[in-house]
Amino acid sequence: MKKVDEYFVPWVKGIPMYISGHIELAWKKPELHRMMSNENPNQPSDKVLEAINKYARLGNRYPDQGLVVRGKIAEINGLAGPENVMLGNGSSEVYDNIFRCFLQVGEEVIQHTPCFGIYKLRGTILGGKMVSVPMVYKDGRLLYDPDAVLNAITDKTKIIVIANPNNPTGNFMDAKDFVRIAETGIPFIVDEAYVEYAGLGMSQVGLIKKYKNVIITRTLSKAYGLAGLRFGYALGDKDVIGQISAALLPWNVGTIPMWAALAAFEDTEALAFRVKFNNSEVDYITEALSEVPGLVVFATKANYIFFDCGATGKKGKDMVAFAEQKGLIFRPEAAKYDSDGWFRITIGTKEENRMAVDVVKEFLTSK
Ligand SMILES: Cc1ncc(COP(=O)(O)O)c(C=O)c1O
Repeated sequence: MKKVDEYFVPWVKGIPMYISGHIELAWKKPELHRMMSNENPNQPSDKVLEAINKYARLGNRYPDQGLVVRGKIAEINGLAGPENVMLGNGSSEVYDNIFRCFLQVGEEVIQHTPCFGIYKLRGTILGGKMVSVPMVYKDGRLLYDPDAVLNAITDKTKIIVIANPNNPTGNFMDAKDFVRIAETGIPFIVDEAYVEYAGLGMSQVGLIKKYKNVIITRTLSKAYGLAGLRFGYALGDKDVIGQISAALLPWNVGTIPMWAALAAFEDTEALAFRVKFNNSEVDYITEALSEVPGLVVFATKANYIFFDCGATGKKGKDMVAFAEQKGLIFRPEAAKYDSDGWFRITIGTKEENRMAVDVVKEFLTSK
Protein backbone atom coordinates (compact mmCIF):
# COMPACT_ATOMS: atom_id res chain seq x y z
CA MET A 1 0.00 0.00 0.00
CA LYS A 2 1.32 3.49 -0.85
CA LYS A 3 1.76 5.99 1.98
CA VAL A 4 -0.64 8.93 1.97
CA ASP A 5 2.38 11.20 1.38
CA GLU A 6 2.79 9.76 -2.06
CA TYR A 7 -0.66 10.93 -3.07
CA PHE A 8 0.09 14.62 -2.63
CA VAL A 9 0.60 16.53 -5.87
CA PRO A 10 4.34 17.23 -6.06
CA TRP A 11 4.00 21.01 -6.07
CA VAL A 12 2.07 21.03 -2.78
CA LYS A 13 4.01 18.30 -1.00
CA GLY A 14 6.43 19.65 1.57
CA ILE A 15 5.17 23.25 1.44
CA PRO A 16 4.45 24.42 5.01
CA MET A 17 1.31 26.32 5.98
CA TYR A 18 1.90 30.04 5.61
CA ILE A 19 2.07 31.63 9.03
CA SER A 20 2.91 35.27 9.39
CA GLY A 21 5.23 35.22 12.42
CA HIS A 22 5.03 38.96 13.12
CA ILE A 23 1.21 38.95 13.01
CA GLU A 24 1.10 35.94 15.36
CA LEU A 25 3.44 37.81 17.70
CA ALA A 26 1.31 40.96 17.60
CA TRP A 27 -1.87 39.11 18.54
CA LYS A 28 -0.09 37.17 21.26
CA LYS A 29 1.47 40.33 22.74
CA PRO A 30 -1.05 43.13 22.26
CA GLU A 31 1.20 45.49 24.21
CA LEU A 32 3.55 45.60 21.20
CA HIS A 33 2.95 48.32 18.60
CA ARG A 34 2.03 46.93 15.19
CA MET A 35 4.23 48.73 12.67
CA MET A 36 4.95 45.73 10.44
CA SER A 37 2.01 44.71 8.25
CA ASN A 38 0.88 47.88 6.53
CA GLU A 39 -2.33 47.94 8.50
CA ASN A 40 -4.26 51.14 9.17
CA PRO A 41 -3.84 52.44 12.74
CA ASN A 42 -7.41 53.87 12.79
CA GLN A 43 -10.31 51.65 13.77
CA PRO A 44 -13.32 51.32 11.43
CA SER A 45 -15.57 54.41 11.17
CA ASP A 46 -18.93 54.56 12.95
CA LYS A 47 -20.76 54.09 9.66
CA VAL A 48 -18.82 50.90 8.94
CA LEU A 49 -19.39 49.65 12.50
CA GLU A 50 -23.14 50.28 12.05
CA ALA A 51 -23.18 48.19 8.88
CA ILE A 52 -21.23 45.42 10.60
CA ASN A 53 -23.78 45.37 13.42
CA LYS A 54 -26.75 45.49 11.11
CA TYR A 55 -25.57 42.62 8.93
CA ALA A 56 -24.31 40.58 11.89
CA ARG A 57 -28.02 40.14 12.69
CA LEU A 58 -28.44 38.52 9.27
CA GLY A 59 -25.53 36.18 9.93
CA ASN A 60 -27.85 33.20 9.55
CA ARG A 61 -28.33 34.05 5.84
CA TYR A 62 -26.12 33.28 2.84
CA PRO A 63 -24.69 36.32 1.05
CA ASP A 64 -25.72 37.18 -2.52
CA GLN A 65 -23.22 37.78 -5.34
CA GLY A 66 -22.62 41.37 -4.20
CA LEU A 67 -24.22 43.26 -7.08
CA VAL A 68 -24.76 46.39 -4.97
CA VAL A 69 -21.19 46.75 -3.75
CA ARG A 70 -19.79 45.69 -7.14
CA GLY A 71 -21.94 48.38 -8.75
CA LYS A 72 -20.60 50.95 -6.30
CA ILE A 73 -17.00 49.93 -7.03
CA ALA A 74 -17.67 50.22 -10.78
CA GLU A 75 -19.14 53.69 -10.29
CA ILE A 76 -16.14 54.89 -8.24
CA ASN A 77 -13.82 53.68 -10.99
CA GLY A 78 -15.75 54.94 -14.00
CA LEU A 79 -16.62 51.43 -15.22
CA ALA A 80 -19.88 50.22 -16.78
CA GLY A 81 -21.16 48.06 -13.93
CA PRO A 82 -20.83 45.06 -11.59
CA GLU A 83 -19.77 42.87 -14.53
CA ASN A 84 -16.38 44.65 -14.45
CA VAL A 85 -15.80 43.75 -10.79
CA MET A 86 -14.91 40.47 -9.05
CA LEU A 87 -14.87 40.27 -5.24
CA GLY A 88 -12.46 38.31 -3.08
CA ASN A 89 -11.78 37.43 0.51
CA GLY A 90 -9.01 40.04 0.57
CA SER A 91 -7.02 40.73 -2.57
CA SER A 92 -4.94 37.68 -1.61
CA GLU A 93 -7.86 35.51 -2.68
CA VAL A 94 -8.29 37.60 -5.81
CA TYR A 95 -4.69 36.65 -6.69
CA ASP A 96 -5.36 33.00 -5.99
CA ASN A 97 -8.38 33.03 -8.26
CA ILE A 98 -6.68 34.85 -11.12
CA PHE A 99 -3.58 32.64 -10.96
CA ARG A 100 -5.71 29.46 -11.02
CA CYS A 101 -7.32 30.68 -14.24
CA PHE A 102 -4.13 31.36 -16.19
CA LEU A 103 -1.32 29.22 -14.79
CA GLN A 104 -0.54 25.54 -15.39
CA VAL A 105 2.25 23.48 -13.85
CA GLY A 106 5.67 24.60 -15.12
CA GLU A 107 4.44 27.90 -16.53
CA GLU A 108 5.88 31.25 -15.49
CA VAL A 109 4.84 34.29 -13.50
CA ILE A 110 6.99 37.40 -13.78
CA GLN A 111 7.21 39.54 -10.64
CA HIS A 112 9.31 42.64 -9.97
CA THR A 113 11.28 42.28 -6.73
CA PRO A 114 11.39 43.23 -3.90
CA CYS A 115 7.62 42.78 -3.81
CA PHE A 116 4.68 41.42 -1.86
CA GLY A 117 4.91 37.68 -1.12
CA ILE A 118 1.44 36.51 -2.16
CA TYR A 119 2.32 36.21 -5.86
CA LYS A 120 5.01 33.65 -5.07
CA LEU A 121 2.84 31.80 -2.56
CA ARG A 122 -0.08 31.36 -4.94
CA GLY A 123 2.11 30.73 -8.00
CA THR A 124 4.15 28.06 -6.24
CA ILE A 125 1.13 26.20 -4.87
CA LEU A 126 -0.05 25.77 -8.47
CA GLY A 127 3.31 24.37 -9.61
CA GLY A 128 4.15 27.61 -11.40
CA LYS A 129 7.66 29.00 -11.76
CA MET A 130 8.36 32.46 -10.39
CA VAL A 131 10.61 34.65 -12.52
CA SER A 132 11.83 37.48 -10.30
CA VAL A 133 13.09 40.59 -12.05
CA PRO A 134 14.97 42.85 -9.62
CA MET A 135 14.32 46.57 -9.46
CA VAL A 136 17.41 48.76 -9.93
CA TYR A 137 19.03 50.33 -6.84
CA LYS A 138 20.53 53.65 -7.86
CA ASP A 139 21.14 56.99 -6.12
CA GLY A 140 19.16 56.01 -3.05
CA ARG A 141 16.16 54.90 -5.08
CA LEU A 142 14.74 51.54 -6.10
CA LEU A 143 13.60 51.95 -9.70
CA TYR A 144 11.26 49.87 -11.82
CA ASP A 145 13.01 48.21 -14.75
CA PRO A 146 10.34 47.71 -17.42
CA ASP A 147 12.92 46.71 -20.05
CA ALA A 148 14.11 43.88 -17.82
CA VAL A 149 10.48 42.82 -17.23
CA LEU A 150 9.86 42.70 -21.00
CA ASN A 151 13.14 40.83 -21.56
CA ALA A 152 12.12 38.19 -19.01
CA ILE A 153 9.12 37.12 -21.13
CA THR A 154 9.31 33.59 -22.59
CA ASP A 155 6.85 31.23 -24.31
CA LYS A 156 5.92 30.04 -20.85
CA THR A 157 5.02 33.45 -19.39
CA LYS A 158 1.35 33.38 -18.39
CA ILE A 159 1.17 36.25 -15.91
CA ILE A 160 3.06 39.49 -15.29
CA VAL A 161 2.38 41.20 -11.98
CA ILE A 162 3.48 44.69 -10.97
CA ALA A 163 2.44 46.56 -7.83
CA ASN A 164 1.61 50.25 -8.25
CA PRO A 165 2.78 51.64 -5.86
CA ASN A 166 5.12 48.81 -5.00
CA ASN A 167 5.44 47.22 -1.57
CA PRO A 168 7.97 47.66 0.07
CA THR A 169 9.54 50.42 -2.05
CA GLY A 170 6.53 52.79 -2.08
CA ASN A 171 7.00 54.21 -5.61
CA PHE A 172 4.95 54.16 -8.84
CA MET A 173 5.98 52.94 -12.29
CA ASP A 174 5.63 55.40 -15.22
CA ALA A 175 2.30 55.25 -17.08
CA LYS A 176 4.02 54.69 -20.44
CA ASP A 177 5.70 51.55 -19.11
CA PHE A 178 2.35 50.04 -18.13
CA VAL A 179 1.29 50.50 -21.74
CA ARG A 180 4.43 48.76 -23.03
CA ILE A 181 3.75 45.73 -20.87
CA ALA A 182 0.01 45.75 -21.63
CA GLU A 183 0.86 45.70 -25.36
CA THR A 184 2.37 42.19 -25.00
CA GLY A 185 -1.16 40.76 -24.59
CA ILE A 186 0.02 38.60 -21.66
CA PRO A 187 -2.29 38.68 -18.61
CA PHE A 188 -0.96 41.70 -16.76
CA ILE A 189 -2.09 42.22 -13.18
CA VAL A 190 -1.56 45.61 -11.60
CA ASP A 191 -1.71 45.45 -7.80
CA GLU A 192 -3.10 48.74 -6.53
CA ALA A 193 -3.45 47.78 -2.86
CA TYR A 194 -2.21 51.22 -1.75
CA VAL A 195 -3.29 53.49 -4.59
CA GLU A 196 -5.87 55.43 -2.55
CA TYR A 197 -3.09 57.11 -0.54
CA ALA A 198 -1.96 58.93 -3.71
CA GLY A 199 -5.49 59.08 -5.15
CA LEU A 200 -7.25 57.16 -7.91
CA GLY A 201 -5.72 59.59 -10.41
CA MET A 202 -2.59 57.39 -10.12
CA SER A 203 -4.53 54.23 -10.99
CA GLN A 204 -3.98 52.32 -14.23
CA VAL A 205 -7.67 51.33 -14.34
CA GLY A 206 -8.12 53.27 -17.62
CA LEU A 207 -6.02 50.60 -19.37
CA ILE A 208 -8.68 47.92 -18.98
CA LYS A 209 -10.91 49.66 -21.55
CA LYS A 210 -8.26 49.21 -24.24
CA TYR A 211 -6.40 46.10 -23.05
CA LYS A 212 -8.47 43.03 -22.18
CA ASN A 213 -5.37 41.40 -20.69
CA VAL A 214 -5.01 44.04 -17.94
CA ILE A 215 -6.57 43.34 -14.55
CA ILE A 216 -6.37 45.75 -11.61
CA THR A 217 -6.53 44.47 -8.03
CA ARG A 218 -7.41 46.48 -4.93
CA THR A 219 -8.12 45.90 -1.27
CA LEU A 220 -9.92 47.48 1.67
CA SER A 221 -7.12 46.36 3.99
CA LYS A 222 -5.01 49.51 3.64
CA ALA A 223 -6.36 53.08 3.19
CA TYR A 224 -9.89 51.95 4.10
CA GLY A 225 -8.50 50.23 7.20
CA LEU A 226 -10.47 46.96 7.11
CA ALA A 227 -7.76 44.29 6.96
CA GLY A 228 -9.56 42.06 9.45
CA LEU A 229 -12.73 41.96 7.37
CA ARG A 230 -10.97 40.47 4.33
CA PHE A 231 -12.34 42.28 1.29
CA GLY A 232 -10.57 42.79 -2.02
CA TYR A 233 -11.57 43.09 -5.65
CA ALA A 234 -10.43 42.89 -9.25
CA LEU A 235 -11.37 45.29 -12.06
CA GLY A 236 -11.24 44.27 -15.68
CA ASP A 237 -12.95 43.76 -18.99
CA LYS A 238 -16.36 42.16 -18.43
CA ASP A 239 -15.60 38.98 -20.40
CA VAL A 240 -12.35 38.42 -18.53
CA ILE A 241 -13.90 39.17 -15.14
CA GLY A 242 -16.80 36.84 -16.04
CA GLN A 243 -14.43 34.00 -16.91
CA ILE A 244 -12.29 34.44 -13.80
CA SER A 245 -15.40 34.66 -11.65
CA ALA A 246 -16.39 31.19 -12.82
CA ALA A 247 -13.51 29.85 -10.71
CA LEU A 248 -14.62 31.63 -7.51
CA LEU A 249 -15.65 29.63 -4.50
CA PRO A 250 -19.39 30.16 -4.04
CA TRP A 251 -20.07 32.66 -1.23
CA ASN A 252 -16.37 33.54 -0.94
CA VAL A 253 -17.16 36.97 0.54
CA GLY A 254 -19.43 36.97 3.58
CA THR A 255 -22.49 39.14 4.12
CA ILE A 256 -20.80 41.26 6.82
CA PRO A 257 -17.63 42.22 4.87
CA MET A 258 -19.69 42.89 1.75
CA TRP A 259 -22.02 45.40 3.39
CA ALA A 260 -19.30 46.87 5.59
CA ALA A 261 -17.34 47.46 2.37
CA LEU A 262 -20.27 49.31 0.84
CA ALA A 263 -20.48 51.51 3.94
CA ALA A 264 -16.74 52.17 3.70
CA PHE A 265 -17.01 53.20 0.03
CA GLU A 266 -19.89 55.53 0.88
CA ASP A 267 -18.06 57.05 3.87
CA THR A 268 -15.79 59.22 1.74
CA GLU A 269 -15.01 61.48 4.70
CA ALA A 270 -13.54 58.57 6.67
CA LEU A 271 -11.30 57.65 3.75
CA ALA A 272 -10.19 61.26 3.27
CA PHE A 273 -9.31 61.49 6.95
CA ARG A 274 -7.26 58.28 6.83
CA VAL A 275 -5.39 59.34 3.70
CA LYS A 276 -4.61 62.81 5.04
CA PHE A 277 -3.49 61.43 8.40
CA ASN A 278 -1.25 58.84 6.75
CA ASN A 279 0.35 61.22 4.29
CA SER A 280 1.21 63.82 6.90
CA GLU A 281 2.71 61.14 9.15
CA VAL A 282 4.74 59.82 6.21
CA ASP A 283 6.11 63.35 5.77
CA TYR A 284 6.90 63.60 9.47
CA ILE A 285 8.84 60.31 9.65
CA THR A 286 10.57 60.89 6.31
CA GLU A 287 11.79 64.29 7.38
CA ALA A 288 12.79 63.26 10.89
CA LEU A 289 14.79 60.26 9.72
CA SER A 290 16.39 61.93 6.69
CA GLU A 291 18.72 63.57 9.22
CA VAL A 292 20.26 60.23 10.24
CA PRO A 293 23.70 59.99 8.57
CA GLY A 294 24.02 57.00 6.23
CA LEU A 295 20.34 56.04 6.38
CA VAL A 296 18.55 55.77 3.02
CA VAL A 297 14.87 56.69 3.41
CA PHE A 298 12.81 55.72 0.35
CA ALA A 299 10.24 58.27 -0.79
CA THR A 300 6.82 56.62 -0.49
CA LYS A 301 3.23 57.15 -1.60
CA ALA A 302 1.84 54.44 0.65
CA ASN A 303 1.43 53.66 4.37
CA TYR A 304 4.93 52.30 4.94
CA ILE A 305 8.47 53.51 4.53
CA PHE A 306 11.39 51.39 3.38
CA PHE A 307 14.89 51.99 4.70
CA ASP A 308 18.45 50.87 4.03
CA CYS A 309 20.75 51.43 7.00
CA GLY A 310 23.64 49.45 5.46
CA ALA A 311 25.89 52.52 5.25
CA THR A 312 25.51 53.19 8.98
CA GLY A 313 27.31 49.90 9.65
CA LYS A 314 24.20 48.44 11.29
CA LYS A 315 22.03 45.56 10.07
CA GLY A 316 18.32 45.82 9.31
CA LYS A 317 17.53 42.71 11.30
CA ASP A 318 19.31 44.13 14.35
CA MET A 319 17.31 47.35 13.96
CA VAL A 320 14.11 45.28 13.99
CA ALA A 321 15.25 43.29 17.04
CA PHE A 322 16.15 46.50 18.90
CA ALA A 323 12.75 48.03 18.09
CA GLU A 324 11.02 44.93 19.41
CA GLN A 325 12.86 45.25 22.71
CA LYS A 326 11.49 48.78 22.84
CA GLY A 327 7.96 47.54 22.15
CA LEU A 328 7.64 48.19 18.39
CA ILE A 329 7.32 45.55 15.67
CA PHE A 330 9.06 46.59 12.43
CA ARG A 331 9.59 44.43 9.37
CA PRO A 332 12.99 43.08 8.31
CA GLU A 333 13.91 42.39 4.66
CA ALA A 334 16.45 39.91 3.31
CA ALA A 335 19.91 41.18 2.31
CA LYS A 336 20.04 42.44 -1.27
CA TYR A 337 22.04 44.81 -3.49
CA ASP A 338 25.14 44.24 -1.30
CA SER A 339 23.37 45.58 1.77
CA ASP A 340 21.97 43.87 4.84
CA GLY A 341 20.48 47.13 6.11
CA TRP A 342 16.88 46.76 4.93
CA PHE A 343 13.82 47.29 7.09
CA ARG A 344 10.29 48.67 6.68
CA ILE A 345 8.06 50.63 9.05
CA THR A 346 4.28 50.90 8.73
CA ILE A 347 2.71 54.23 9.68
CA GLY A 348 1.11 53.92 13.11
CA THR A 349 -0.67 56.35 15.40
CA LYS A 350 0.93 59.75 16.02
CA GLU A 351 2.39 58.48 19.26
CA GLU A 352 3.73 55.28 17.66
CA ASN A 353 5.37 57.21 14.83
CA ARG A 354 7.22 59.44 17.29
CA MET A 355 8.34 56.40 19.26
CA ALA A 356 9.53 54.81 16.01
CA VAL A 357 11.59 57.87 15.05
CA ASP A 358 13.25 57.90 18.49
CA VAL A 359 14.00 54.19 18.38
CA VAL A 360 15.54 54.35 14.89
CA LYS A 361 17.66 57.37 15.81
CA GLU A 362 18.77 55.78 19.06
CA PHE A 363 19.86 52.54 17.40
CA LEU A 364 21.47 53.96 14.29
CA THR A 365 23.40 56.75 15.95
CA SER A 366 24.75 54.67 18.85
CA LYS A 367 28.30 53.28 18.66
C1 LIG B 1 1.05 44.92 -2.56
C2 LIG B 1 0.02 44.19 -1.75
N1 LIG B 1 -0.98 43.58 -2.38
C3 LIG B 1 -1.94 42.91 -1.72
C4 LIG B 1 -1.91 42.82 -0.34
C5 LIG B 1 -2.92 41.94 0.32
O1 LIG B 1 -3.93 42.50 0.85
P1 LIG B 1 -5.25 41.75 1.31
O2 LIG B 1 -5.15 40.29 1.02
O3 LIG B 1 -5.36 42.04 2.75
O4 LIG B 1 -6.29 42.40 0.46
C6 LIG B 1 -0.89 43.44 0.38
C7 LIG B 1 -0.83 43.33 1.85
O5 LIG B 1 0.09 43.68 2.52
C8 LIG B 1 0.10 44.13 -0.36
O6 LIG B 1 1.15 44.70 0.27
